[in-house]
Amino acid sequence: MNSFGRHLKFTSFGESHGKAIGVVIDNYPSGIKIDYEYINFLLKQRQGGSAFSTPRKEEEKINIISGVFNDISTGAPICVMVENTNIKSKDYDKILRPSHADISYFAKYEIYDYLGGGRSSARESLARVIAGAFADFILKEVNIRTYASLCAVGKISVDGFAFSEEEYINAQKRQINALNHDIMCEAFKDEILKAKANNDSIGSVVSVGAFGVMAGLGEPLYDKLDARIASAFMGFNAVKAVEIGLGSKISTLNASYANEKFEKIYNEKIIKQKSSIFNNNKNSNFISFSKIDKNKNLYLKTRNNFSGGINGGISNGETIYVKSYFKPTPSIFKEQNVFDFDLKLKKHSLVGRHDPCVGVRACVVLKAMMSFILADYLLLNTSAKISNIKKIYKGE
Ligand SMILES: Cc1cc2nc3c(=O)[nH]c(=O)nc-3n(C[C@H](O)[C@H](O)[C@H](O)COP(=O)(O)O)c2cc1C
Repeated sequence: MNSFGRHLKFTSFGESHGKAIGVVIDNYPSGIKIDYEYINFLLKQRQGGSAFSTPRKEEEKINIISGVFNDISTGAPICVMVENTNIKSKDYDKILRPSHADISYFAKYEIYDYLGGGRSSARESLARVIAGAFADFILKEVNIRTYASLCAVGKISVDGFAFSEEEYINAQKRQINALNHDIMCEAFKDEILKAKANNDSIGSVVSVGAFGVMAGLGEPLYDKLDARIASAFMGFNAVKAVEIGLGSKISTLNASYANEKFEKIYNEKIIKQKSSIFNNNKNSNFISFSKIDKNKNLYLKTRNNFSGGINGGISNGETIYVKSYFKPTPSIFKEQNVFDFDLKLKKHSLVGRHDPCVGVRACVVLKAMMSFILADYLLLNTSAKISNIKKIYKGE
């Protein structure tokens, strides 16, 4: 499937070593100002060129083909293309790289553009980031903010799952967008460089937080918000597990401890959340609330947020927290036993340009996917109840 979304949809196209990567976004509302600087700001976070990422770095000049007039969206499909300008196809031999998509694409299609991994390359995620930037323009109107940062590299990991908005913002200022502390960032960097020095690669975990999400977003049963997030995140290259809120650890608990502990709040003041056994982040502030009674200005908030902001597939007004677990980059320079396309086994050392730890460049892609899902569900929600329809058509 090359398309994603329920109401707001995007379709990505292009291969790693093809002419271009692009995206078509359909059902995008009219009247939205397009901030080109913001799109470029997000794209920069996905680019390589540092000691901690692939050396492949592209200029990535965005070319908006349709759907925007005088910098404002028109309601027509938005089409954005970015030319591939830094291709080194000679680095790619006809071999089935262990744990890459070569073998399964070859088995399914027989005709396979193996150059740079073709369509299975993470170069495609450029399209996801552009779609996410357009989604952010919608989210900005209702003050929803999404972030993603590294919370583990190899065996070194930051405790907890509920990070404050400030922590994500601080992480972005560090060289590899690492949560927690400058010292943690240095430890992550050391792990990546160690793997690289051994001609190897290393796995990682990325934490995503969505702040300011109102209660009531999501579709019940077959298209739950958490199901959609898990599907989108698992659908991203090299992701092997996804956790919402406390994640798999919740299976070790009794409900008397794990259940949400809701509190009534009568105004929007920020409540400081002290650490719990699973959350050692003393500064963690839960700052979103589900507004239960508009007239009384009454809110409910939970003290633990183990559900990661989602109950019954619908947002409960708390911050949404998701973790994605990435495997180590399959293409490594260490000599391995590999099969070629004629199924001959040989010893092979790869050449070319590869990420030593995919989590570094993956953060912004997951942020973008989270933004796109929230924008999609925000638009879907407008038809969830008759009062919304009356508001639009009768001004009631
Ligand atoms: C941001 C990002 C960058 C990646 N860079 C590389 C790379 O340089 N070399 C490589 O072999 N795989 C890389 N991968 C992983 C492959 O794209 C992925 O393992 C492959 O498509 C097989 O899919 P699967 O791991 O989901 O099964 C990257 C993944 C991500 C998310």
